[in-house]
Amino acid sequence: MPATVIIGAQWGDEGKGKVVDLLADRSDVVARFQGGNNAGHTIVTGEETFKLHLIPSGILYPGTTCVIGNGTVIDPGVLHDEIDGLEARGIDMSTLRISGNAHLIMPYHVRLDGASEMRLGRFSIGTTGRGIGPCYQDKAARKGIRAQDLFDEKILTKKIEIALEMKNVLLTEVYGVEPMDSQVVAEEVLTHAERLCPFITDTSLLINDALDARKSVLLEGAQGTLLDIDHGTYPFVTSSNPTAGAACTGLGLGPTRIERVLGVTKAYTTRVGEGPFPTEANDEAGKRMTERGNEFGTTTGRQRRCGWLDLVALRYAVRISGITELALTKLDVLSGFDTLSVCVAYRTREGEVLTELPANQTVYHGCTPVYDDVPGWSEEIVGVQDIEQLPRAARDYVSMITETTAVPVALVGTGQGRREVIDLA
Ligand code: IMP
Repeated sequence: MPATVIIGAQWGDEGKGKVVDLLADRSDVVARFQGGNNAGHTIVTGEETFKLHLIPSGILYPGTTCVIGNGTVIDPGVLHDEIDGLEARGIDMSTLRISGNAHLIMPYHVRLDGASEMRLGRFSIGTTGRGIGPCYQDKAARKGIRAQDLFDEKILTKKIEIALEMKNVLLTEVYGVEPMDSQVVAEEVLTHAERLCPFITDTSLLINDALDARKSVLLEGAQGTLLDIDHGTYPFVTSSNPTAGAACTGLGLGPTRIERVLGVTKAYTTRVGEGPFPTEANDEAGKRMTERGNEFGTTTGRQRRCGWLDLVALRYAVRISGITELALTKLDVLSGFDTLSVCVAYRTREGEVLTELPANQTVYHGCTPVYDDVPGWSEEIVGVQDIEQLPRAARDYVSMITETTAVPVALVGTGQGRREVIDLA
């Protein structure tokens, strides 16, 4: 059975966790392929709320194998705590698997992330401060520490010593912050080895075997298309590829293994951190979205920037990832607007109207949205499960998205809870 990829079609926080959670019910394997604990999913199951940063939400379903793939970056302390926290709440962790090739976020990566942002000042990226960028930098520079290094204390300590030699120069001479002691860092990292090592394995083999055995496999992306290091709003992006292609490299499987690409988009748009956001609404409408949508980050608690749905960016996401279906989340947040603006094109500084996302970032920074206004609806729709029970204008809003993107909307989210969803597949 071919695999399904789930990706964010905007700037992250689209509600992928909820969609993964829904599909995980019917999946044998759920695998994360990029990012780290810069991501955060909130899953509401009945009375319980789970906040997950690294472990796929499939872990809440007994018997589902959950993989943290080679393309991810893992903070060993964060993962250790997440495993312990879930276990303490009675969740069986025996189905968790970690790729030995995944890179580990070291304490110096976190310190460098903070110091670099501080130095950039008003040019900062607005990172989550979790050490994601510096860890991926070391991966590309071939100076990284990988999960498999936890098995070998001597090699791990040596690698940290070598890495820190340069990092300490950077920390003290360039950023003017405290250096770190390699022995102390190695000892700290090793405190997690006993807990994490039993989960480390060849996850590429595991996933390919599962596909050969016709099992159902879900590949879960973090962040979103416009935060992609290659295809996003560079440099205001994350350091990995949250787009569908990365599922292959981030897990060790071929593109022919993937059949479905599910893109998740909110019914409006949000963004955390710096960078261009043409449909940002710094007015009452944006404020209403923040409040009704509870738009505060799961990971950093930062208030998200809010704005109208951007169909140019959505069509771009469809193109970059070959999205075959859309999941539209948080439609309930839009109740109560007389009219809804949807961005159908951009106007450049020079007045040119663009219907495709500009390939040049300077042009993009200067773009303003061209809006169509469509009718809103006043009824609350929280918990609606049948498309026929949506007000006419809400149904038209969903149809308009399908028509503009030429991609069917398979799921519509109408609330936080697991079952507050309309299944159109
Ligand atoms: P980093 O991934 O911490 O390096 O942050 C780079 C950019 O990506 C910043 O603008 C962050 O706010 C953004 N970012 C990272 N992870 C997420 C996420 O899960 N949701 C939304 N934005 C994110």
